[in-house]
Amino acid sequence: MAMNEALSEFMQQCRERVESSLEHILPSNSVLPTRLHEAMRYSALSGGKRIRPTLVYATGQAVDVSPERLDSPAVAVELIHAYSLVHDDLPAMDDDDLRRNQPTCHKAYDEATAILVGDALQALAFQALCCGNSMQADAETHIKMLETLTRASGSRGMAGGQAIDLESVGKELNLAELEILHIHKTGALIRAAVHLATLLNPQIGQEKIQALDRYAKCVGLAFQIRDDILDVEGDTEILGKTQGKDSAQDKPTYPALLGLSGAREKAEELLAESLRCLAQFGDEADPLRWIAKYIIGRSR
Ligand code: IPE
Ligand code: IPE
Ligand code: MG
Ligand code: MG
Ligand code: MG
Repeated sequence: MAMNEALSEFMQQCRERVESSLEHILPSNSVLPTRLHEAMRYSALSGGKRIRPTLVYATGQAVDVSPERLDSPAVAVELIHAYSLVHDDLPAMDDDDLRRNQPTCHKAYDEATAILVGDALQALAFQALCCGNSMQADAETHIKMLETLTRASGSRGMAGGQAIDLESVGKELNLAELEILHIHKTGALIRAAVHLATLLNPQIGQEKIQALDRYAKCVGLAFQIRDDILDVEGDTEILGKTQGKDSAQDKPTYPALLGLSGAREKAEELLAESLRCLAQFGDEADPLRWIAKYIIGRSR
């Protein structure tokens, strides 16, 4: 099977798994408070590439953990991500009207609801991970998984990255500072996705754990570089979000600092590095290889 075909099949399977978990864990629209639950479902079930859950399952395949055991961490990382997007779009942050090809949560509902949707999706993520019996994790592993997601989401991870993003508007960051920003706001959660899956197989050994962590760091940074590039050259209809917002808001980005070709080159370097990190793995890590390639070439 050609790589693209194998990847789309793999991604579709992962998407179906995580969407079925989301459907199951999100309270129905008829449960009180109905408007909040409707807005949570509007934001979390509205499409999206589901790349973070896909990375959870792909890492599971590389380290011999079955998909059934990964459903809870997969849905948990997607719920954190969905919350981060709802808050990222608020007027106080990026002030965006369009997300996943539909009005942003605060446009479809209102700002207060969007704030609460984010709060509630974040709490639901930790509920998913706390109550994940199918993970078959012992108590120590379970706590480590909770700690991993907590750290990745908080002020030393994604939320901290968002803070750096906002305080950097209009400033000229150097390459090292920009890398720190991207590694936090986007890299931390992607790294957590990979780490969560490796925690479910304590037998794999430090060498593989570290190699997968290095892979995740490269892929996480490459993901945000591609996001920056798409903001310059992407198409609003394909992206499902408004193109050109970063330069309009004077955000520090890779294309702004290195130019488009410099940013592309950096993403290519990270792809090559991420593939080198997987050298000790056989074809069980192919989905991770496909995803790395997909990330730097995607158009949405
Ligand atoms: C967008 O993430 C925000 C970033 C961290 C760059 P995605 O590109 O994964 O968004 P969806 O989930 O596919 O909509
Ligand atoms: C968002 O980065 C990162 C998080 C949501 C944590 P961006 O602000 O670049 O994401 P988009 O471009 O709005 O999707
Ligand atoms: Mg932002
Ligand atoms: Mg944004
Ligand atoms: Mg962006």
